[in-house]
Amino acid sequence: MVIIGRMTEKDVKEVAEVEKQCFALPWSEKSFYDEMTNKLAVYFTAKTDGKCVGYAGFWNVSGEGGITNVAVLPPYRRQGIASMLIEEMIREGKAQSLALLTLEVRKSNRAAQDLYKKYGFDIIGERKRYYSDNGEDAFIMTKFLNK
Ligand SMILES: CC(C)(COP(=O)(O)OP(=O)(O)OC[C@H]1O[C@@H](n2cnc3c(N)ncnc32)[C@H](O)[C@@H]1OP(=O)(O)O)[C@@H](O)C(=O)NCCC(=O)NCCS
Repeated sequence: MVIIGRMTEKDVKEVAEVEKQCFALPWSEKSFYDEMTNKLAVYFTAKTDGKCVGYAGFWNVSGEGGITNVAVLPPYRRQGIASMLIEEMIREGKAQSLALLTLEVRKSNRAAQDLYKKYGFDIIGERKRYYSDNGEDAFIMTKFLNK
């Protein structure tokens, strides 16, 4: 069974490990500790048998939710875990009266784009050379929560 919960300091080490296994430019463990005292930040973990297998979060900036990351460990993918994390962020975003949730995603990352499309995010623009490792462009995908 997968349980979605709010991320706490106790989860940081495991979340940083998930991050390392999921991204070419992973955030450091310290940046996750910093996020735990960031009043704008809201993070969730996905746990199975007490082990953290995924996480996601957003920043509430002036009533708009900027999703920082969504990640699931490779062996646990295609089981609906990212979907559960997105559903939780949409629920929490509505509870915080956010106007929208928005994010950047690599143009090559079809899996993530399909995930976000499934939840009503639309491509509303792009950022050229957004990713510093390979100069890849990002799509900006946004979901309005008041519709
Ligand atoms: C993108 C990611 C978070 C998806 O996690 P997941 O738990 O496997 O996603 P889900 O099982 O909830 O999938 C939901 C939907 O997303 C889409 N999707 C997920 N993985 C996909 C893939 N490999 N190929 C195509 N579509 C995919 C599908 O529409 C899927 O619905 P379906 O299973 O009914 O077809 C995961 O692959 C990951 O961590 N990738 C590396 C990190 C990353 O790229 N994060 C996004 C940064 S913007």
